[in-house]
Amino acid sequence: MKSILVLHGPNLDRLGRREPEIYGRQTLADLEALLRTHARGRTSLEFFQSNHEGALIDRIAEATDNEADGLIFNPGALTHTSIALRDALAGSDLPCIEVHLSNIYRREPFRHHSHTAAASLGVISGLGFHGYLAALDHLLDHARG
Ligand code: DQA
Repeated sequence: MKSILVLHGPNLDRLGRREPEIYGRQTLADLEALLRTHARGRTSLEFFQSNHEGALIDRIAEATDNEADGLIFNPGALTHTSIALRDALAGSDLPCIEVHLSNIYRREPFRHHSHTAAASLGVISGLGFHGYLAALDHLLDHARG
């Protein structure tokens, strides 16, 4: 097992301060620490957050070329808009689990569609930080390596 990339899209760097009634008061650093503890002795993790679509696309290609074992991806609002990210995932053989902190299906109608979901192995939505731990457990059972 080489490594799993944990990728975060726009505004997720603001976790803890951004709409805490929806996303909670814990930060991205808290999430990273939780995942590192959960992964210890099982896999190495890399973390990348960007507010820029192209940077996320480049990072997916890089992880694919470097033969990472899997991807945990919260594309943020780009979930609902980005065909380019969907194509980046479809063109990669990395198994990807899409994760959303909130349950996107309980929210505004514009959040109900995900372009990226069809290019992912599975989707977890609405379980908060626990969704990332479940995604990691699943990838460790099913990732390439
Ligand atoms: C989100 C849900 C998206 O609709 C939203 O734009 C986000 C966060 C989530 O984790 O619940 O930025 O991906």
